[in-house]
Amino acid sequence: MPQFAQVAAVAVLLAVGSARHCQNLTIPISISARNGKFDLQAPATNIDVTNFVLDLAQPGHNLTEAVLDEYVTVSGNYSIAATYCEPDCGPGKTVQVLTHGIAFDRSYWDLPVNNYNYSYVNQAVDRGHSAFFFDRLGLGQSSHGEPVNEVQSWLEVSALYALTTMIRENRIPEIKAKFDKIVHVGHSFGSIQTYGLVAAYPDSSDGIVLTGFSQAAFLPYFLLGNDFVSANTIPALVTYPAGYLAASSVSGAQIGFFSPGQFDPWVLQAAAATGQPVTVGELLTVGGPSSPKNAFRGPVFVVTGERDIPFCGGYCLQANRSIPAEVKSSFTNASYFDSFIVPKAGHGLNLEFTWPITYGRILGFIDAQVSS
Ligand SMILES: *[C@@H]1O[C@H](CO)[C@@H](O)[C@H](O)[C@H]1NC(C)=O
Ligand SMILES: *[C@@H]1O[C@H](CO)[C@@H](O)[C@H](O)[C@H]1NC(C)=O
Ligand SMILES: *[C@@H]1O[C@H](CO)[C@@H](O)[C@H](O)[C@H]1NC(C)=O
Ligand SMILES: *[C@@H]1O[C@H](CO)[C@@H](O)[C@H](O)[C@H]1NC(C)=O
Ligand SMILES: *[C@@H]1O[C@H](CO)[C@@H](O)[C@H](O)[C@H]1NC(C)=O
Ligand SMILES: *[C@@H]1O[C@H](CO)[C@@H](O)[C@H](O)[C@H]1NC(C)=O
Repeated sequence: MPQFAQVAAVAVLLAVGSARHCQNLTIPISISARNGKFDLQAPATNIDVTNFVLDLAQPGHNLTEAVLDEYVTVSGNYSIAATYCEPDCGPGKTVQVLTHGIAFDRSYWDLPVNNYNYSYVNQAVDRGHSAFFFDRLGLGQSSHGEPVNEVQSWLEVSALYALTTMIRENRIPEIKAKFDKIVHVGHSFGSIQTYGLVAAYPDSSDGIVLTGFSQAAFLPYFLLGNDFVSANTIPALVTYPAGYLAASSVSGAQIGFFSPGQFDPWVLQAAAATGQPVTVGELLTVGGPSSPKNAFRGPVFVVTGERDIPFCGGYCLQANRSIPAEVKSSFTNASYFDSFIVPKAGHGLNLEFTWPITYGRILGFIDAQVSS
């Protein structure tokens, strides 16, 4: 057995695949952030949930502003469920820290469906990188929390920063490797948090990839299309308290994440069956981390599907512009910026037939701009 099987940490499990070596980790973090304190009851019924969504999606109305009492510092001790994978031959010189978006957990990066055909982690490990991916604070096997005033965007950015620092300083006992480079790859809300990480801590990353991302505001399409209900009305999510929302149907998931003709129906079913919730606090603060100009000095790559709903309103080249390319104007200090629109793809890039193009571009960027 590999030597780190001896480590007496909580929930360390080992599995040796053909080309990769992975372990599940439970990582304690102690973090704080400046959160919004909202004058809002967690929506208790599905009617309350729909009212909340309609208020949030109303044009010209800023619900966050309307219900904001004040900003307060929130602190807590939490546990983060993560998976670390490396090539069988040993750790990569580069580790990728992967942050998933709304409706998923960390399996977004390592989908088991169709014998891991869609796994981004497998492709990254095949290139000789290590990969660290985790359930975002508030959901999955990570700590859950209070969904209005606690589980919000900036607290999650603090969690991402804490994890990044622990990796950089070799403070996760089960990860023995010392990496030359740390790259951050996000998807959707995970990209927003990655953006917020390097805006707040510009030296925390050696390169970032923002997938399923732009700075344009098409969130109402996504909010309405998802057909949100209280998560605990869905059998797989009964343990979540009021204030956690989830898509009510397979079609809701399809609207938000899948582009016509670009996916295997079985993958849609699997994604809908394992869908994870989002808190009202996250939705009220969703754009915050990606709104300031970004001081990051490293290389940046934005990769978004041509027909992305939440970030392009269904078409990234509308009005004769490239919506993802416009992100460049926020990265005035970046050493390199590029964007790529994945032809025909939707928001859920890792779930679609175009994954070889998506992953090829992401890994090509990392090899050329960061690892070399
Ligand atoms: C990690 O946990 C997941 C379930 O959450 C399981 O499917 C997977 O096999 C585990 N991986 C390892 C390497 O033990
Ligand atoms: C809405 O209000 C919040 C809180 O004041 C603010 O941070 C945010 O920038 C506003 N959003 C927009 C789109 O103006
Ligand atoms: C977190 O844990 C530390 C050490 O046990 C403790 O001193 C601290 O008060 C805790 N913080 C919070 C916010 O609970
Ligand atoms: C870019 O760097 C300059 C010089 O250090 C600094 O003054 C400026 O604030 C930075 N830009 C952003 C967006 O942080
Ligand atoms: C779109 O952009 C191209 C290239 O800049 C320009 O030639 C063309 O006139 C534009 N079309 C519209 C409808 O604005
Ligand atoms: C694996 O993905 C490729 C590329 O999208 C696709 O053509 C193929 O059908 C998939 N195979 C399986 C077994 O899912």
